[in-house]
Amino acid sequence: MEQYVIKGGNPLYGEVEIGGAKNAALPILAAAIMTDETVTIENLPNVRDINVLLQAIEGIGARVERVNDHKVKINGSFINDVKVDNEYIRKIRASYYLIGALLGKYGRTEVALPGGCDIGSRPIDLHKKGFLAMGANVEIAHGFFKAEAEHLMGNHIYLDKASVGATINIMMAAALAEGKTVIENAAKEPHVVDVANFLNCMGANIRGAGTDVIRIVGVEKLHKAEYSIIPDQIEAGTFMCAVAATGGDVMVTNVIPKHLEATTAKLLETGCEIEEFDDAVRVISDGRLHRTQVTTLYYPGFPTDMQPQMAVVLGVAEGTSTVTESIFENRFKYVDELTKMGANIKVESNIAIISGVEKYTGAYVNAPDLRAGAALVIAGLAAEGVTIVDDIQYIQRGYEDLEGKLASLGAKIEKVTTEKELQKFILRVS
Ligand code: EPZ
Repeated sequence: MEQYVIKGGNPLYGEVEIGGAKNAALPILAAAIMTDETVTIENLPNVRDINVLLQAIEGIGARVERVNDHKVKINGSFINDVKVDNEYIRKIRASYYLIGALLGKYGRTEVALPGGCDIGSRPIDLHKKGFLAMGANVEIAHGFFKAEAEHLMGNHIYLDKASVGATINIMMAAALAEGKTVIENAAKEPHVVDVANFLNCMGANIRGAGTDVIRIVGVEKLHKAEYSIIPDQIEAGTFMCAVAATGGDVMVTNVIPKHLEATTAKLLETGCEIEEFDDAVRVISDGRLHRTQVTTLYYPGFPTDMQPQMAVVLGVAEGTSTVTESIFENRFKYVDELTKMGANIKVESNIAIISGVEKYTGAYVNAPDLRAGAALVIAGLAAEGVTIVDDIQYIQRGYEDLEGKLASLGAKIEKVTTEKELQKFILRVS
């Protein structure tokens, strides 16, 4: 049992440093095995999903040297198996990035189908469409995604939805395919650009990442590289929302402010003050917030991965706000938990109608998934009394030392593993 126990009501002050982006790091680790030379990756977040993927990469024979918590060296020349399966890999969504990487490098692969956060149906038809267009035989059977191609050939691929995963997966395979691949209606998220930059560092020829059309000219092989992953815009946004909801004044450092624009815009509308610097944003909130409307969209729209955290902010904003989720159909699972804390939220189809309450009240809640879990932590920080967040293994998938970073800002939060530790914390803070 690991839980977060939080005594709410303390504004946050100080400085917090953001780590590398999980959703960039995952495909970058997968892409690192596409060369037989050694690749060094820095600014790696030390979170569960990353460690699971590294184990899977090791499991197929690649050499993985963990230089320190945030730096790894990978050598893909020792790979002796293109079948990826272990009891953990099925739990992470990003396992599918090994399909593009292995198919591109070896022309065949078999990867256990991905799990990941339960935020709605998560099809992989667009990944399949891309590989098929490149001449691969693709079969999904017995829980595996199997792809094989004698000659992987570039092609024109239109994505019906601007899927991050499909864009990156096709980009990886196309980097080593014969001829030119054009991905139309490509995802434009910063992590797509980061993966393209990394592949280019390894000798790939990819142009247009960050726009709707990505053009890839296949190369014969990739080579060694040293690369540092971009900062995590969602971790940064989560801290920004925490300050907004609890009140305080925090400098969020090691960020790219441009990547945070949608979150910044919405927090400004709620009445927070935000100052932007070259690689930091300062968030000031007096905790008196106004209502606003939020709709999740593909980048540069408001990120779906920030939707629960923003909803928690709006839950204590004056007036009625709406949050429309347009990417995943089941991303309001935190609402019932938040209701236990006194929130007044009604979900109709893909819209949450949020009537702001004066404050949350501490309660026992369960983290339903990664971002919803982080959102419940924010609610706990803003709440009166003690909140216990259970199932924090979801939160640990994507946040490194969330409790330590929040505590350094003055939050009263602790990770506990036993009832005794829990009671000790409560005694200490009450
Ligand atoms: C990535 O998931 C992220 N995961 C998610 O982050 C994030 O929420 C999502 O992108 C959107 O930004 C990783 O990077 C590991 P998509 P992904 O393909 O790639 C539809 C987090 O909290 N679609 O961009 O799975 C899909 O149903 C996680 O860190 C198809 O229809 O998302 C959705 O509506 C959760 N067919 C839309 O596209 C496909 O083949 C966008 O999904 C693929 C996707």
